[in-house]
Amino acid sequence: MVIGRSASEAEIEFTLAYCFSCEPEPDTLWPMRTVEVSLGTRSYTIHIGSGLLTKLGDHCRRLKLGERCAIITDSNVGPRYADAAVRALKMAGFVPSVVTVTAGEGAKSLKVLGECYDQLAMKRLERRSFVVALGGGCVGDLAGFVAATYLRGISYVQVATTLLAQVDSSVGGKVGINLKSGKNLVGSFHQPRAVLCDLDTLSTLPEREFRAGMAEVVKYGVIRDPELFRRLERELDKIMKRDVNTLSNVVARCCTLKSEIVGADEYETTGVRAILNFGHTVGHGIEALSGYNEFIHGEAVSLGTVAAARLSSRLMSLPDKEADRIRDLLQRIGLPTAIKFTPKKREALFDAMRLDKKVSGGELKFVLAKSLGDVVPGQRVPDADINAVLNLIAE
Ligand code: NAD
Ligand code: GLY
Repeated sequence: MVIGRSASEAEIEFTLAYCFSCEPEPDTLWPMRTVEVSLGTRSYTIHIGSGLLTKLGDHCRRLKLGERCAIITDSNVGPRYADAAVRALKMAGFVPSVVTVTAGEGAKSLKVLGECYDQLAMKRLERRSFVVALGGGCVGDLAGFVAATYLRGISYVQVATTLLAQVDSSVGGKVGINLKSGKNLVGSFHQPRAVLCDLDTLSTLPEREFRAGMAEVVKYGVIRDPELFRRLERELDKIMKRDVNTLSNVVARCCTLKSEIVGADEYETTGVRAILNFGHTVGHGIEALSGYNEFIHGEAVSLGTVAAARLSSRLMSLPDKEADRIRDLLQRIGLPTAIKFTPKKREALFDAMRLDKKVSGGELKFVLAKSLGDVVPGQRVPDADINAVLNLIAE
């Protein structure tokens, strides 16, 4: 049953230079990287490489998890990868069951959440049992929140199958669901016990979803790593052809950056972690106003990134030509960089942005760039400037 259905080599140099925390694993296929997320007792390892799904059971056994587990997956990923996950877990002595939800942002809802709890209870999952989130960011956010709250919290492992999940959402422990009034309004911080990024799974990812994941990859270049940004400009063709070695390095670099940021500010209290929201103020607003239908997350983030770059040129020191570079790279990837705005839509966007978590004291806050690789969070932006920038991204 599907829950929610009824409701409608330069490479190596790069790795050495950039992935100081990425070590090849001796017992697994090359290319293989690991990135450590250092959070004291909540620390874990991100594994990046080919053929990882077949080793899921071994990884879980090393974590000394209980016997019973639930693989939460979606209606696109389940038919492709759930059998392999079940086999790997059974071979390692686990007793897995599979919970399949309807694919898409709609999975991050109170209704689907409730149905997942019921399934876990029916399968008699206990305190030492665990959840495997097998899928993209939607499954990861939902399954992570199920694990954060079921029996007041059980362990979970992220098996990320979209580029977006591999570079961003599976790492850092932000889990949650949407409400009708806005994105990610109910959630928790609950770190996974391990993250597996099996690059082979990206071979079946639809082109649109792969491009959407690239929006978050570009984000890392903008917020922290101008060399990554240049590399994306240089090697975009290989990346878009999903060359596994190139991807392995890009994913590992993004995970290293995310683990450093999360390690510095796990609960987003000091502002460090908030820089990951670059492009997301307008992005989340656009997603919400299109009812999560017209633009998928990465596409909305692309539009938000162009808006944030233009605001950064207007209000900070980001040169116009750097904002152009950001837009040009997103365009080359095939992401939207302009949007049609009727006056009504513009008003709805402001309303949607005001419902976002990034609002403080009723004011919209933005992450803005001083230069490529150097951003500052928590910037108040007057509505007039937002309107001026929306004019710049209007089709
Ligand atoms: P998604 O999970 O909806 O996956 C995109 C689509 O691809 C879905 O239809 C899915 O079924 C399909 N799919 C996934 N893997 C596949 C594969 N290997 N082969 C074929 N099809 C596959 O979306 P996403 O872009 O991965 O994630 C977006 C979500 O992530 C948003 O809800 C966003 O808010 C959230 N997010 C969370 C964080 C975080 O820190 N928690 C960070 C960024 C984004
Ligand atoms: N994607 C935002 C965060 O993890 O903080």
